[in-house]
Amino acid sequence: MKIAVLAGDGIGPEVTHEAIGILRAVADLGGYDFRFQQLLIGGIAITETGSPLPRATLDACLESDAVLLGAVGDNKFNSLSPDKRPEAGLLQIRQALGGYANLRPSVAYKSLSINSPLRAEVTEGADILFVRELLGGLYFGQPRQWDRETGEAWNTMRYTRDEVVRVARVAFDLAAKRRKKVTSVDKANVLEVSQLWRAAVTEVGAEYPGVTLEHQLVDSMAMHIMNTPRNFDVVLTENLFGDILSDEAAVITGSLGMLPSATIGGAVNLYEPVHGSAPDIAGTGKANPLGAILTAAMLLRHSAKLEQDAAAIEASVIKVLDAGYRTADLARGNQPGQQTVTTREMARLVHNALNESIDRSQSMHAV
Ligand code: IPM
Ligand code: MN
Repeated sequence: MKIAVLAGDGIGPEVTHEAIGILRAVADLGGYDFRFQQLLIGGIAITETGSPLPRATLDACLESDAVLLGAVGDNKFNSLSPDKRPEAGLLQIRQALGGYANLRPSVAYKSLSINSPLRAEVTEGADILFVRELLGGLYFGQPRQWDRETGEAWNTMRYTRDEVVRVARVAFDLAAKRRKKVTSVDKANVLEVSQLWRAAVTEVGAEYPGVTLEHQLVDSMAMHIMNTPRNFDVVLTENLFGDILSDEAAVITGSLGMLPSATIGGAVNLYEPVHGSAPDIAGTGKANPLGAILTAAMLLRHSAKLEQDAAAIEASVIKVLDAGYRTADLARGNQPGQQTVTTREMARLVHNALNESIDRSQSMHAV
């Protein structure tokens, strides 16, 4: 497998480095051949080439089997217009790769329950899979402009029926393999685009009699996610609502640093943790590599079709958390039985747990 690696800015390189380490471990243990190619994106790409998405990066990504991305964004570029910022590189690569369904799981880990400001009895057992539409809506709709002369600015939230139908199918297919419920989120009481969204999702829902469909308005959904997170299985929504609600749902897990994502449906799948570049902690060993490591697991699941290895990584992460190890974002004072570790150490612990679990499954085969 050819994997293009776009480490990007801030903590992107350090967490991506650890995700690659885990993928190499899986390759060694399973006898797979993974080739990694490092490429520039974001602020570092602007500094070195003048463009947030250099042509060489784009071409190499299109020729790869999967793209693993760290994070983009650097305060140095805050005064630039949206089309020149590091984030523009990210939006361009998303568009070029063509993946329209961004899967963002948000899971309540038992051993992290005190990390959530929500009570354990509320979060316990919560397991939500957001399906965020990634190529439409306000992020890409035309026209868009800030007219400094008239003091007016506008963006366009635009969807076609087909764009809604294709992402809805992904949500229903996934729900059919989970707890068989799709919650579609919109603002159909105000926006025409949401009325189209709701109609198209309802149409797709009729093809899946085994899956329950409910519609929620985005404002009350923001509240329901906090009040009753266990009520949700697959949550389907448009680009901006999905951006906002998936960050909100990190509260269930306890830290944004834990959340992975996969973007599927296009020519090449794109894998990126949900967190940003966090320039304030870059290089301090405080970054949580688990979001990137769990992202690597999603890559194994959705691109390499190595479900068992993906599940082994996820189980190893749980084991390390259960043993009390915490990166700075997860550390809560002097909790008994807990130990604060660096980015590097956390990754090494996951690596060890993975080795152990694979050794054990091999010796079980031998028996
Ligand atoms: C995300 C990020 C991006 C987004 C930014 C960095 C462009 O917030 O992946 O959630 O808004 O999609
Ligand atoms: Mn976001």
